[in-house]
Amino acid sequence: MKEKAHIVVIGTGGTIAGRGASSVNTSAYACSVLSIDEVLSGIPEVAAVSRVSAEQLMQIGSENFTTEHLLQLGKRIDTLLRRDDVDGIVVTHGTDTIDETAYFLHLTLKSPKPVVVVGSMRPPSSLSADGPLNLYNAILVASSPASHAKGTLVVSNDEIHSARDVVKTSTFKLESFRSPYGPLGYIVEGNPRYYRVPARRHTTETQWSVDEIYQLPEVGIVYAHAGIDAAVIEATAQSGIRGLIYAATGNGNVAGHVVGALLRARRRGVQIVRASRTGSGIVTRNGAQPDDEYDWLVVDDQVPQKARLLLMLSLSDGQHSTELQDVFYRY
Ligand code: DGL
Repeated sequence: MKEKAHIVVIGTGGTIAGRGASSVNTSAYACSVLSIDEVLSGIPEVAAVSRVSAEQLMQIGSENFTTEHLLQLGKRIDTLLRRDDVDGIVVTHGTDTIDETAYFLHLTLKSPKPVVVVGSMRPPSSLSADGPLNLYNAILVASSPASHAKGTLVVSNDEIHSARDVVKTSTFKLESFRSPYGPLGYIVEGNPRYYRVPARRHTTETQWSVDEIYQLPEVGIVYAHAGIDAAVIEATAQSGIRGLIYAATGNGNVAGHVVGALLRARRRGVQIVRASRTGSGIVTRNGAQPDDEYDWLVVDDQVPQKARLLLMLSLSDGQHSTELQDVFYRY
């Protein structure tokens, strides 16, 4: 008989570990209160398919995640993946920044073994809770040889998403997690089915390894709007950051009255990256702004919060602007 895959489930908190006062509290509840053992006790069915061990690494809402938390989690996963007796990892996580954590792992882990990050939109105590099935599915995805070498995955609502693409798109809907190019696959009756693979570099093909990173330079995000005050850009640029993601309107458009503030920031050494607040699509280099002349960068198609992580990692390598632009087209 084939041995069951050994999956380590790491608890970090979130709604999947939450509890409401009553079963009808689907949006108002206490977050990050159940231990990972209590969360796993809700899915005894998993013992028939995988050998699961659990550890509680932290117990926090994901809105509280810092760079230090990312490094702590990444290093722990890296250590576990090096063990011959570990076949895959599942991380239970709040959904607010699950896309950021998953993307950080996708760029910095160095193993083809599956790593799946999972959360839920409703606490386990609510009617039609989504956590138990999401977690069951995540463990099955992590146990499947079909999930090897696909980068870090996010499982939600019967779908398997690439960490590169997935974003949270709704504050409360079960179908909150979307990828602009669609999920990589589905989970049907416990069987992961893949229909496509990530085209951009990840995990074993990237230039970053979490075991070699001890700190990261800070990068800020400024969200553009009609009538934005240049003082917001000035203040952000002078807060000690090494890069600034400008979540511009449309295809990276920058209001004429704030161009000067961004140019001054660049002259002071802050990398400027034009992104879009629209949530999808490509920002065209040298389109709305002369990026070559200004020595600015564009995100390609990446959302601001993930472009920030990519720039933080790239700046830790001390790269020149032309190499930095290349990074956005490669990852
Ligand atoms: N505190 C939020 C978080 O941990 C709750 C949202 C959720 O987990 O769905 O991200």
